[in-house]
Amino acid sequence: MGKTKVAIICGGKSSEHEISCVSANGVLAAIDRDLFEITLIGITKSGRWLHLPLETNLKIQGSVLPSIPDSGSEVSITSSGLVVDGKKLEIDVVFPILHGPYGEDGTIQGLLEIIQLRYVGSGVLASAVSMDKSYAKPIFAASGLNVAPGIVVTSPDITVPTNLSYPIFVKPARSGSSRGTTKVKEIAQLKSAIQVALEFDSKVIVEQAISGREIECAVLETDGKFLVSPVGQIVISDKYEFYDFQAKYLDDSMQLVFPEDLPNEITEKIQKNALTAFKAAGCEGLARIDFFYSDSGEIVINEINTMPGFTPTSVYPKLIGKLGISYQELISKLIQTAKHRSINITR
Ligand SMILES: Nc1ncnc2c1ncn2[C@@H]1O[C@H](COP(=O)(O)OP(=O)(O)O)[C@@H](O)[C@H]1O
Ligand SMILES: [Mg+2]
Repeated sequence: MGKTKVAIICGGKSSEHEISCVSANGVLAAIDRDLFEITLIGITKSGRWLHLPLETNLKIQGSVLPSIPDSGSEVSITSSGLVVDGKKLEIDVVFPILHGPYGEDGTIQGLLEIIQLRYVGSGVLASAVSMDKSYAKPIFAASGLNVAPGIVVTSPDITVPTNLSYPIFVKPARSGSSRGTTKVKEIAQLKSAIQVALEFDSKVIVEQAISGREIECAVLETDGKFLVSPVGQIVISDKYEFYDFQAKYLDDSMQLVFPEDLPNEITEKIQKNALTAFKAAGCEGLARIDFFYSDSGEIVINEINTMPGFTPTSVYPKLIGKLGISYQELISKLIQTAKHRSINITR
């Protein structure tokens, strides 16, 4: 059997462009070339689709994050597929390693459905729901999961409901990488925090800060089964108030620890909740599900990431690694799962 032809798409118009490039760099370095033949497609920040050489530099250099260069052959999106220089690209599976809006929110998934290309990860609806916290939270709640109490606002002139007390988190409904997110300690800071979040999205979540630990769990769909990873705790340096952009990407101080002091029943419940959330949102392939384990012992779901950070040292691959699945095997499994997925709308 010939190799499976995989198109890696990275970059994109979202504020997570650079992070996407770093993830794609990891996949390009590790993907099994005996099984897969790769095409690299970069989407520039302005939205141009370019066919790029595989050796395009997508590494972090010092503290400079990579981005898609503005040169390369234009990729045309046609009703029969992706075309470069008048030639249709042969693609069996697309791996859209894109985070945030236009990448993780169902839009590119819809595009790929229309041009009949199979792709890694969740479909249109699950991607869109998971991206938009104002929709994800009610879906989680309807499945019996605890969510942080809060409201959705579209203007900075609001009255905070009496069931919320400071500190409060203000964040764009559809962002990622903590961009536009503020921990608000007193009413005087609220308006400006909402204004900051509104720069990222027209819809903003104002919710109760949960004091506790941040616990993440990975789900992988493979061979028709759902594998749920052990849970990992995000530990960041004390200098950060919360897990913000700086703590996530620009500082090596974040540690993923596998807490031994969590009661077994809590670990199991988080794992069970992760799978419940994955299914409730209709996810496919992969997702990282993030929780708080509050100081008062409550498990609160925060969000689902349908295309989580995906470098070899990112949380998702590390959690899956705990199941004895290497980064390279993980990539292979995701592509195989996508390859066997039906592209018929009635699936
Ligand atoms: N309700 C909350 N309580 C405590 N911390 C929060 C809350 N909401 C967000 N945070 C903090 O902000 C970070 C980013 O928020 P999150 O909702 O995960 O958005 P993103 O999609 O940007 O990752 C979280 O990892 C956490 O550190
Ligand atoms: Mg998050």
